[in-house]
Amino acid sequence: MKPGNRLFKKRCQITRSSMLREMRERNFERKAFLSLWADRLFSWKGSDPVIFIEQAKKVFQTKNGPVKAVDNINLSVQEGEIFGMIGYSGAGKSTLIRMLNGLETPTEGSVTVAGRKISTIKGTELRKARQEIGMIFQHFNLLWSRTVRENIAFPLEIAGVAKAERDKRVAELIELVGLEGRGDSYPSQLSGGQKQRVGIARALANNPKVLLCDEATSALDPQTTDSILDLLVDINERLGLTIVLITHEMHVIRKICHRVAVMENGQIVELGPVLDVFRRPEQPITKRFVQQVTEPEESKETIQHLLTEHPDGKIVKLTFVGVSAEQPVVTELIRSFQVGVNILQGKISQTQNGAYGTLFVQITGDPAEVARAVAFLDAQQVDSEVITYE
Ligand SMILES: Nc1ncnc2c1ncn2[C@@H]1O[C@H](COP(=O)(O)OP(=O)(O)O)[C@@H](O)[C@H]1O
Ligand SMILES: [Mg+2]
Repeated sequence: MKPGNRLFKKRCQITRSSMLREMRERNFERKAFLSLWADRLFSWKGSDPVIFIEQAKKVFQTKNGPVKAVDNINLSVQEGEIFGMIGYSGAGKSTLIRMLNGLETPTEGSVTVAGRKISTIKGTELRKARQEIGMIFQHFNLLWSRTVRENIAFPLEIAGVAKAERDKRVAELIELVGLEGRGDSYPSQLSGGQKQRVGIARALANNPKVLLCDEATSALDPQTTDSILDLLVDINERLGLTIVLITHEMHVIRKICHRVAVMENGQIVELGPVLDVFRRPEQPITKRFVQQVTEPEESKETIQHLLTEHPDGKIVKLTFVGVSAEQPVVTELIRSFQVGVNILQGKISQTQNGAYGTLFVQITGDPAEVARAVAFLDAQQVDSEVITYE
């Protein structure tokens, strides 16, 4: 029996809160508990894991002593999932993702991808396994003396694919990534976004099961980032490809990932479906990442200013997650209560699992009526919080 099978079966009945309760009851150390079990309880779609990392550690020996880059990580990623890992520089993200295609070997523990134990195989077997695992990089890693077509053909040449077949496959890939007409260009003649498209086409040449992305959009401007992320979602949906991406930008996670793991000091400190983590970040580091996309810096100042300017009424922060759309709640509020409703600030973003966002409203009027309106909001499918002076 595969490790974790029993827990996979229970997955649907177990909620995040009951998991945390169990942790408290059993007196587990939080980090260890989350790292060990959370991904199994909240696995994606219920299909089998295509990636399985068990008790992985990586220690680098440096002249200043040992550096623990990856510290006891347990994780499984399901087939067809877009799995994000976020953390600041030095958290161990690259080391972890490089273990998935054997560019790093764990000091302890094991890594299995698409049924092969990457952490122990070598030579021809490892090369074969790597054909199932494509990778793209922040700085594209293209061959500068080769054209787009020749760059994409490169992994096919290595795999010994015949010329006619190769040409056909390259043409398909060029179309898939939207580079029609650019086949004979050299990388230096392309924009950053186009270069990454070549990187993606090359990574997909051998029909891999898994695509690894190491900060693949970090060198791109926001608009190009979005177009590359759209392409990754398209490929995920069309080909059923499993994607593991690492980033330091929450926007990337918000836009395309199904689940996210937060990494700090070589460990996974928080893990769950993106909407859950956005809604209730537990760790301080996760809260900081979530704030990157939910609360623009100026909102705090704006609210403080409004509290000062309009001391009457209540300012309420509404958090919308998943299916609950913002419009009906506010409309209902205005219709049902004799109060004034002032929308101060709002930001609603789309995630892979629905809308997520916050809206700050000021509710004014007779205090009793305002209290009733706030109670109404509490009863809705939104999280509401009355904001006061800090
Ligand atoms: N080849 C190496 N030799 C020594 N230390 C390394 C090596 N690779 C990474 N490290 C160290 O491991 C830690 C994690 O690095 P890395 O995985 O690159 O983090 P991230 O990708 O999250 O920025 C850092 O402290 C880094 O200096
Ligand atoms: Mg890195």
